[in-house]
Amino acid sequence: MEAVELKKGIYWVGAIDWNVRDFHGYSTPHGTTYNAYLILDEKNVLVDTVKAPFYLEMLGRISEIIDPSKIDVVVSNHVEMDHSGALPQMVDRIGDPTVITSERGQKGLAKHYKKPLRWKVVKTGEAFSIGSRTLTFLEAPMLHWPDSMFTYIKEDQLLLPNDAFGQHVASSQRFEDEAGGEVMKHAAKYYANILWPLAPLILKKVEEVTRMGIPIDMIAPSHGLIWRKNPGRIVEAYVDWSRGKVGNKILVIYDTMWGSTESIARAILNGLVEERVEARLLHLRSNHRSDVIEEMLEAKGVLLGSPTLNNGMFPSMADFLTYMKGLRPKGKLFGLFGSHGWGGGAVKEMRKVLEQEKFEIWEKELSVQYVPDPEEVKSAIQFGREFARKIREA
Ligand code: FEO
Repeated sequence: MEAVELKKGIYWVGAIDWNVRDFHGYSTPHGTTYNAYLILDEKNVLVDTVKAPFYLEMLGRISEIIDPSKIDVVVSNHVEMDHSGALPQMVDRIGDPTVITSERGQKGLAKHYKKPLRWKVVKTGEAFSIGSRTLTFLEAPMLHWPDSMFTYIKEDQLLLPNDAFGQHVASSQRFEDEAGGEVMKHAAKYYANILWPLAPLILKKVEEVTRMGIPIDMIAPSHGLIWRKNPGRIVEAYVDWSRGKVGNKILVIYDTMWGSTESIARAILNGLVEERVEARLLHLRSNHRSDVIEEMLEAKGVLLGSPTLNNGMFPSMADFLTYMKGLRPKGKLFGLFGSHGWGGGAVKEMRKVLEQEKFEIWEKELSVQYVPDPEEVKSAIQFGREFARKIREA
């Protein structure tokens, strides 16, 4: 697959990872891309690189357009190795390019690669002329790491925001308007699993960019498809997700040992459906944690159910809560249910985790001993109905 020109003299020269299925704990059933961009001007610039094993794939695309030794500058917007992994080899191939990065980027790259480079450290608002174009840098700490920065090319109204606005999807298309309707779903999963804890910073960054009044015609992130047709729609989606804009959707997330917690979960779901709220039943060993988190992005209520195992919650629920608490989903009301044999403990342990993390918890809870009888099933339906009313009224 060839390099792709996205603006006159600006090319996508990245790599497509069709086979990756796990991205540090995030399931990537559609693979991903590592996007790097080549800008031809009086100074030729490469913005970001790719994951180390894809160095030759990127080099091949660059070589279709230019002798790689003619690159003068490499911009490293982000230290994480999916973007900087091929940097040492690329620098060796070029010769001695200037490497532009943020102050934290310089420290992070030095620590990763222990390689003397011709650094140019930049700060927010700093401009760098490359001939007919000017690159402007905007530090974006924690989007995704402290070192992250955006590069903006004002003459092309092109924003290269690295991880922000990306999606984990491998595709033969490069632009979101070519790729069908799934792109927002991929973008939502990416936001929920990577950027959600940074929601307040995202809102500040969007405000900052809006205040700067920079026109944006295209957004080319470091993963997935390029936002060409209407880049405003992904920015608006980020604002909505970061503000916690949701409908009345409720999730029932559970695991089960001998089927009792599942019976309660289904009865609760029936109660939710009777109240005509949108509801989803998610079994933790049938749904990857990163898909459950994506569902949570647009949910207002979350009911968590676990059987008791050795006086505590089931391991899959512990795994899920560990993952979820790091992502700090805000503005949800949590309810708890489960089943037990003798001492109990699952509901108590789930409550403890949620309390420690200061999540909002519904005061009612439900735990059934051994196998639920018809009265207990009725109580579970009622439990679901009450939770749905609480969510609708909130
Ligand atoms: Fe795609 Fe934070 O790296």
